[in-house]
Amino acid sequence: MSTQTLQQPAPPKFGAPVLEASGVVMRFGGLTAVNNVNLTVREGEIMGLIGPNGAGKTTFFNCLTGMYKPTEGEVKFQGAVLPPKPRAVVKAGMARTFQNIRLFGNMTALENVMVGRYCRTNALAFTSIIRGPKYHREEAESRRIAQELLDFVGLGHTSEHLARNLPYGDQRRLEIARALATDPKLILLDEPTAGMNPKETEQAKDLIFRIRDKGLAVVVIEHDMRFIFSLCDRVHCLVRGETLIEGSPHEVQSDHRVIEAYIGQPDEDEEELVAEAHAHDHETPPTAPTAPASPASDLTKEDRA
Ligand SMILES: Nc1ncnc2c1ncn2[C@@H]1O[C@H](COP(=O)(O)OP(=O)(O)OP(=O)(O)O)[C@@H](O)[C@H]1O
Ligand SMILES: [Mg+2]
Repeated sequence: MSTQTLQQPAPPKFGAPVLEASGVVMRFGGLTAVNNVNLTVREGEIMGLIGPNGAGKTTFFNCLTGMYKPTEGEVKFQGAVLPPKPRAVVKAGMARTFQNIRLFGNMTALENVMVGRYCRTNALAFTSIIRGPKYHREEAESRRIAQELLDFVGLGHTSEHLARNLPYGDQRRLEIARALATDPKLILLDEPTAGMNPKETEQAKDLIFRIRDKGLAVVVIEHDMRFIFSLCDRVHCLVRGETLIEGSPHEVQSDHRVIEAYIGQPDEDEEELVAEAHAHDHETPPTAPTAPASPASDLTKEDRA
């Protein structure tokens, strides 16, 4: 290998910005739910969005995806400002899942995913009514893609099951399949592992890596810090609507303000107790050192409830 080859800079890990939100503010009457938040997400990047309950994470997603028109600020997708309309946003290439699952319960898993395809088919209302050859071609193609996506998320065997009969974890994966059916460049996941057991959570992590490997950028809201810090390239922490910190998982995990935001600052009594306990440290026999707990890594939504 030549020296020149060795000196060449490594290719950038991430591509061009897909999403650029700047100065986003969302007010509800007197309440400022999101206050001057900037977020850039690049091609191939997995961005985590964390923060305690009520921090404004879902509201920020709603601003990004056209469900809310931000009171102030701008959301650009692939360099263009998007109109605050969910359909236009989906069509542009941004898809999402919801904190409170929104599926068509009385439709099958396959049909739910096919719904996601409709924004990409050309069939007009008229073609659908007369059901000509074009309609049937597109319908067959939608069905094939929907089945492939069900296989991709591990739900291939449930295609004919009614969505409402699926276990909770499967419903979350079905929502992801439906979002993928819109052919997005960026997918936003609002608490994708809520209600999942540890095995399902691991599978969800693997699924998100595979989605990234398909070339999508991902933004994921989660309360499970172990999940977030082992999944994301960068993590953005909101507290009371404002950015507290954005950085690598390591930087965010070791920032004491993040821990305080979740568990609160120790009050004076607690500090005294801790000081007292330390004062007696030398009196206790030495014990085997324990691994330092990673700051907020064990906090799940359930823990905080
Ligand atoms: N449509 C609305 N009208 C008025 N207030 C709202 C609305 N949506 C959210 N809020 C308020 O905005 C704040 C942020 O809520 P949001 O749901 O975005 O928080 P979150 O970070 O997603 O919390 P969680 O982790 O519990 O899901 C909360 O105080 C909430 O009550
Ligand atoms: Mg939320």
